[in-house]
Amino acid sequence: MLIKKSEDIKSSEITSKASYLNRRNFMKGAVLATTATATGFLYRSLTRTSRSSTAADAANQPVQLVSPSGEKLTTLQDITHYNNFYEFSTNKGAVADKSKGFVTHPWTVAVEGLVNRPKVFDIDDLAKLGPPEERIYRLRCVEGWSMVIPWLGFPLAKLLDLVQPNSSAKYVEFTTLYDSARMPNQNTNVLDWPYVEGLRLDEAMHPLAILATGLYGDTLPPQDGAPVRLVVPWKYGFKSIKSIVKIKLADSQPSTTWNMYAPREYGFYSNVNPRVNHPRWSQARERRIGEFGQRDTLLFNGYQDEVASLYDGMDLRVNF
Ligand code: MTE
Repeated sequence: MLIKKSEDIKSSEITSKASYLNRRNFMKGAVLATTATATGFLYRSLTRTSRSSTAADAANQPVQLVSPSGEKLTTLQDITHYNNFYEFSTNKGAVADKSKGFVTHPWTVAVEGLVNRPKVFDIDDLAKLGPPEERIYRLRCVEGWSMVIPWLGFPLAKLLDLVQPNSSAKYVEFTTLYDSARMPNQNTNVLDWPYVEGLRLDEAMHPLAILATGLYGDTLPPQDGAPVRLVVPWKYGFKSIKSIVKIKLADSQPSTTWNMYAPREYGFYSNVNPRVNHPRWSQARERRIGEFGQRDTLLFNGYQDEVASLYDGMDLRVNF
């Protein structure tokens, strides 16, 4: 967003795809059990175009991973080597390398503010909130590119319910770790640190909003926001704050990093909207990483049926 990169990381076939498929067979029980209780739109199961399902077949045959909507999953290679994580680098292709060895254990997430039962959660306690659900979501960056990512995680509402927001709580603030010894780019003033984000409480409680702890059936890699990050699929990617250490319930709209940086360019809501352009570029179309050409950007990133009612009566051009 600060620095325009024109180069593309080549999408290469990934050897770990077969092991992902194998792992999925082990995980299937747990994942499907969880999702059976979820409504249809929440869980989008992976389907393979290949008919075979043995480990050997998975290893030997080209498989294409698609979501039921027919969209191809972005490769693990691209998801983990084309990243925005300014605490490590402003160069998307360098984040993976710069964040290698980032220590995320021990780790705690303090959930506090206007709640009846504030609590500091150990990252291992979060894992015990239940088996992670797999959620295949589109991620649309405000810069004009997008991916389809199979996350593992749990609804943010699950965590918020545990701490019991009180009646004055209207917003949720999120804060990334601030430790320049571990996140070296925090020694620069490229942004104000720590990275902060926020949601209205009803947005945060929406079943599509998740805290992700993994992707492609494995633990979340550092470059994608380990050990725990927010994923709000109907908003531009910068709302999906990484490596969270604090979640605070508040009665007023929290400050957010990109809005503070350029208030005319990045609003608090930042819902994906092809009809509201960024002051410096159109948001009508996007480039799906790994594909040629461009595709139309969808209102609310394609999650209109699920989330549009959150914004009834609001002018999305004013509340951009
Ligand atoms: N969170 C933190 N703490 N720091 C960041 O620089 N970048 C944001 C978001 N979360 C960012 C962050 C932006 S601009 C995007 S598009 C997504 O993370 C990218 O997530 P990904 O690298 O997993 O695709």
